[in-house]
Amino acid sequence: MRYCAIRAVMAAAVLAPCAAGAEPQAEVLHWWTSGGEAKAVAVLQQEFAARGGSWTDMPVAGGGGDAAMTALRARVLSGNPPTAVQLKGPAIQEWYEEGVLADISDVAAAQNWEQVLPQAISAHMKCGGTWCAAPVNVHRVDWMWANAEVLAQNGIGMPASWEEFNAAAEKLIAAGITPLAHGGQAWQDATVFETVVLGIGGTEFYRKALIDLDEEALGSDTMTAVFDQMRILRGFVDDNFPGRDWNLATAMVMNGEAAFQIMGDWAKGEFLAAGKVPGEDFLCASTPGDGFLYNVDSFAMFDVGAGDAREGQEILAELIVGPSFQETFNLAKGSIPVRSDVSLDGFDSCAQLSARDMNAASDDAGLLPSFAHGMALRGAQAGAISDVVTAHFNSDMSSEEAVEQLGRAIANSM
Ligand code: GAL
Repeated sequence: MRYCAIRAVMAAAVLAPCAAGAEPQAEVLHWWTSGGEAKAVAVLQQEFAARGGSWTDMPVAGGGGDAAMTALRARVLSGNPPTAVQLKGPAIQEWYEEGVLADISDVAAAQNWEQVLPQAISAHMKCGGTWCAAPVNVHRVDWMWANAEVLAQNGIGMPASWEEFNAAAEKLIAAGITPLAHGGQAWQDATVFETVVLGIGGTEFYRKALIDLDEEALGSDTMTAVFDQMRILRGFVDDNFPGRDWNLATAMVMNGEAAFQIMGDWAKGEFLAAGKVPGEDFLCASTPGDGFLYNVDSFAMFDVGAGDAREGQEILAELIVGPSFQETFNLAKGSIPVRSDVSLDGFDSCAQLSARDMNAASDDAGLLPSFAHGMALRGAQAGAISDVVTAHFNSDMSSEEAVEQLGRAIANSM
């Protein structure tokens, strides 16, 4: 009922002519505060300003967006939501069900989003048949980044299997180098975990365990093997890992203090922002195994009524999906454009590899939503899994115990 009322208000707003002298407004909540992220979001700010818009920035630091989501909840509960919010996957639907999202179908129709966006991505952006969010990019999560010189000096190539990774790491430890740069935050633990699930279990196992929450898969020997590998990886991080931000872990790889980082390609945004060159200063390869874990950033528009803020939302939505923004933003962010009609000619070899692997994965059912980045599951289930993953990583819990806890946590979260 509430949603119908909002739609009616929005439809009226869309039909009404803009008041003379109106200044489009946008208060934008996001968590893009690292060097590469800030460069990327500045592209949107500049394009918005060029259209006469007035941008109020609401950055909430904290990789993965947990803190931003807490801030969002407080704002919505107080009846004063931001205009546009960096929001992803099923969380978009969760907010839609609260009746607080705006309808941007008019922009989507005018720009033909139905045609220019891949169907799998559009599905996340639609709420009950209307469009409620604008997709920004496609980040890949199952990436491994490495310091080229450290690898060369130690006679190590990019590992093609977890066994190879483990062997390389032992060699690095012997040479006094931290094998794996990692930040001990729940979302970073979950990021590594999902790449191990994909690598050890394969695409079908990933789907069963982390999308379908299939009891058998969650309680399987394969899942035990995944936790075994997590325990091995725990031995490859340095002592100062707890609480470290992801971009500081990337910096450890940049300066040669550590050899590898397992992180989505926003890490590439950090390397690029620091002037590092892919293939020369740093290397990229998918984590061992098949498949492609996608993480699509998007902005959901909240119901802010008619007027300048509504106008701001429409301009933002139009800019975000526009081909020029898609290219400039993604060059800085480390991701690839969400539109398949934007040329990748100006993009680096890692981005080209990402696009190739994404196409190949979608041909053989290996294109999978990231659980760690809120693309696969609703908040309660995703939280239940990452709690167990973090508890295991930060204790001496056995793999068997972790698997048991996983089953219980999922059952309790339903
Ligand atoms: C992800 C987000 C990326 C990047 C990263 C680290 O969840 O999709 O755009 O910002 O967090 O903050």
